[in-house]
Amino acid sequence: MKEPWPRLSADEAAELIEHNAMVAFSGFTPAGSPKALPAAIARRARELHQAQTPFQIRLLTGASISAAADDALSDADAVSWRAPYQTSSGLRQKINEGQVRFVDLHLSEVAQMVNYGFFGDIDVAVIEASAIAPDGRVWLTSGIGNAPTWLLRARKVIIELNHYHSPRVAELADIVIPGAPPRRNSVAIFHALDRVGTRYVHIDPAKIVAVVDTELPDAGNVLNKTNPICQDIADNVVTFLLEEMARGRIPPEFLPLQSGVGNINNAVMARLGENPDIPSFMMYSEVLQESVVHLLETGKITGASASSLTVSADSLQKIYDNMDFFASRIVLRPQEISNNPEIIRRLGVIALNVGLEFDIYGHANSTHVAGVNLMNGIGGSGDFERNAYLSIFMAPSIAKDGKISTIVPMCSHVDHSEHSVKVIVTEQGIADLRGLSPLQRARTIIDNCAHPLYRDYLHRYLDNAPGGHIHHDLSHAFDLHHNLLEHGSMLG
Ligand code: COA
Repeated sequence: MKEPWPRLSADEAAELIEHNAMVAFSGFTPAGSPKALPAAIARRARELHQAQTPFQIRLLTGASISAAADDALSDADAVSWRAPYQTSSGLRQKINEGQVRFVDLHLSEVAQMVNYGFFGDIDVAVIEASAIAPDGRVWLTSGIGNAPTWLLRARKVIIELNHYHSPRVAELADIVIPGAPPRRNSVAIFHALDRVGTRYVHIDPAKIVAVVDTELPDAGNVLNKTNPICQDIADNVVTFLLEEMARGRIPPEFLPLQSGVGNINNAVMARLGENPDIPSFMMYSEVLQESVVHLLETGKITGASASSLTVSADSLQKIYDNMDFFASRIVLRPQEISNNPEIIRRLGVIALNVGLEFDIYGHANSTHVAGVNLMNGIGGSGDFERNAYLSIFMAPSIAKDGKISTIVPMCSHVDHSEHSVKVIVTEQGIADLRGLSPLQRARTIIDNCAHPLYRDYLHRYLDNAPGGHIHHDLSHAFDLHHNLLEHGSMLG
């Protein structure tokens, strides 16, 4: 039977994308993101630019895509506008030079903002799928992200049919899109593994303008397992959680955890896994990274909900080879569900995120170095931090061999405020901020979390700062940052 859509090469499909189109990519991290079209769009941009023809797209994603894909697009000057998150050094540079307009958004809000019409129409959705049916059903892969909304809202859909993935990957998916106010219902998830949706997205098949066959893996994340600072931070987090259990402030059956990506989070998960006093637990997170697969196998993690499987190729293969085991323990959701404030608050999620800098009153900067240069973006940290049962922020107390203190008098940019940051953990110790007044918070953060290199300076700042409820010396609050910018070190 003749297929209802054309099979095209990636380059042919890229020709269907017009200058200035709003393009939306599936996936969340490299998992589930298109693999062939980004490079093809970059090639098209280069060719058109050589012919003096303007060509740039506006690009919406779920979260980051692979750094290689973002680098290819930014090297080719193929993107004029980008939201909501990125992790590529090339794109970061273009954003910080003002060449790409970047919009840093809470990841739970992106799909609903598109559904409310806040960013205009989506011209083309580029969606990685594991299968499609002639009636318009689309089965996704290892990362869901905002793909369901993109599929339903886009005028045209290009499918990357990636044969690398097991056809059984769709068994992990649970797709539901909350309605729009004023008639939005609650999402009936009362347990991390509850399923409330379908395994596929059903769209009008006439919208599918191209199917591009690929066989390309998700680019796995490489983690440096041996960093002792990460291990110390992880030990402090485990100590804190055990004390909370002993005081009856975390129930004996524990609470679901959210854990961001990176070495610190991976070390925390590993330490939690090893500790016999931490009971088996669930994850309600946005990404599942490497350590989670092992902990699911050992039974320490009994179930995990997320928007993507951001794991190595070997771990993904292990999941695919053992789907009878993993399919009942992993649920992959659209990011507006994995990061949904209503569900995070209801389940009592314990949020574990990493920040760049914290001030002595507990505000946190996750995104902008020295208040000006974007690192990655806020990602899902705000979705979880604001709504968590307990919000724990982690960081090494110093960066760049001590030239930077991550504890400063005043944050140069604020992503998370003192009102919702509950606990700060560095390798130096734990600052439990619950119930503390601002000045108590300041002493606790300096004493427990700041590096000895900077502790005296921070105490002196606080002692000399005038004020009322909060003490600040506005003429010296950013002296450490000035030192860094002028001398390359906060130490001056
Ligand atoms: N000022 C300047 N640079 C700093 C810094 C500071 N206060 N603190 C850390 N850095 C640098 C580090 O030196 C490192 O630089 P390098 O890449 O050149 O080595 C870089 O920032 C990353 O820090 P690292 O300690 O390796 O931690 P990480 O990889 O876990 O990244 C964040 C930390 C904050 C950048 C990262 O967690 C992030 O983007 N968070 C926001 C999004 C988020 O929280 N998502 C969670 C939900 S998944």
